[in-house]
Amino acid sequence: MAVNILDWTDSWFEKLDSEAKSDSAGSIAARFSGEVADGKLPFCSMPYMAELMHDLDGLEDYVKSFDHMLLLGIGGSALGARALQKAFFPQQDQPCHEGPWLWIGDNVCAKTLDAYLAKLPLEKTLVAVVSKSGGTIETISQYFLVRKKMQEALGENWNRNMLFVTDKEKGFLREQADELSIRTLEVPDNLGGRYSVLSAVGLLPAMFMGINYRALVEGASAVLSPLASPDLNADTLAHHPSYKLACWGAALMDKGFNELIFFSYIPQWACFGQWFAQLWAESLGKEGKGSQPIPATGATDQHSVNQMFLDGPRNKACLFLTCPSLPKGQPFPYEIPDNFAYLTGQSFGELIHAEGLGTKMALTANNVPLVELKMGVDSEEAAGRLMGMLMAATIFTGWLMEINPIDQPAVEMGKLLAKAKLGASGLDSEKESLDAFLSVKREEQEF
Ligand code: PA5
Repeated sequence: MAVNILDWTDSWFEKLDSEAKSDSAGSIAARFSGEVADGKLPFCSMPYMAELMHDLDGLEDYVKSFDHMLLLGIGGSALGARALQKAFFPQQDQPCHEGPWLWIGDNVCAKTLDAYLAKLPLEKTLVAVVSKSGGTIETISQYFLVRKKMQEALGENWNRNMLFVTDKEKGFLREQADELSIRTLEVPDNLGGRYSVLSAVGLLPAMFMGINYRALVEGASAVLSPLASPDLNADTLAHHPSYKLACWGAALMDKGFNELIFFSYIPQWACFGQWFAQLWAESLGKEGKGSQPIPATGATDQHSVNQMFLDGPRNKACLFLTCPSLPKGQPFPYEIPDNFAYLTGQSFGELIHAEGLGTKMALTANNVPLVELKMGVDSEEAAGRLMGMLMAATIFTGWLMEINPIDQPAVEMGKLLAKAKLGASGLDSEKESLDAFLSVKREEQEF
């Protein structure tokens, strides 16, 4: 089997004094084992997996009987599905695709929703409403509109075309499911959105697209099982790649590297950058600490943001994702002009490796500490390993920073103010703040 490699050569691991963070391995191993035993880290131990696989098996024929899946969800309830879609179902974006189709409604965009409602054949569409809390306004507001349209279009059996992925007991969606007899899959307790890709949240759309979701889970389990084991100790943890990444990530922040580029030189895996950005930012941006994740894609972003990476503020480090075994693609023809003659005898796919190497060397030459994540193959199993490792690394980084990587309290304020603006009850102090904010005379300029 092709192995994945973390290449630390250009990471500055020692120079950053990352090793000092390893001293916490004993206490962190004990804490991790305790939290796994208490069911607080289900992304790692996956106690729900056997039941989920059974449920997915039972649903497969039904789910695949639809041509379209319209997934309504946002944040961690959408980003994993999109990353999997772009990586393992690229045909949807390619010419002559004849289905199935996955559409992800992860924003408040009246134009997009109108287009979905006007153009999707609802009788052939499964609407998957994905929300752990069951109350996220961006998702639920879409649900209301889609439900109305489905009731009009499909009559009394409209609920056959709807499936919820939500908490097993709590929340508005759960109440709706009970009231309206809508099929559900559970999001397990303690599995927050950004850690939930390997639950029904990501695996249901993966199954719909025909992605090998079992291999994803196997890959993640292979990386995470030593951490989930009751035998986890300081030594095992200290040698685990996720912990080493966390020691590096936390040491970088101590030394003022407050931006972390996720540079993917696997073009179809670009959306793992967005998935990672949410994982890292929402987990670690706390109490004035953290590092800003910056997703970038090679070679595209060599022609956009790379100048800033190379010669802007020296505050950036980089996770550099590659896969040397990507297909070579088309060979170049022989009748190539002299100034491009160096391409003769080579293939298009070799260009991405040469450009990746060039960019990696340029970054390191410009003092960007860099860890290369070199995937043996770009398979589902490999992606599962990558996601499992990055989720664990994020938890460990948060603990080393002495913050809580599971919550996201700061994002509540904006949500409450938006609800106050729309007239929700019980938000008196938010309404007061809103009035004060809106009564300030604006300094405006036409352009
Ligand atoms: O990672 C998180 O917890 C968040 O980004 C959530 O996924 C996002 O807010 C959506 O929440 P929910 O799944 O409850 O609708």
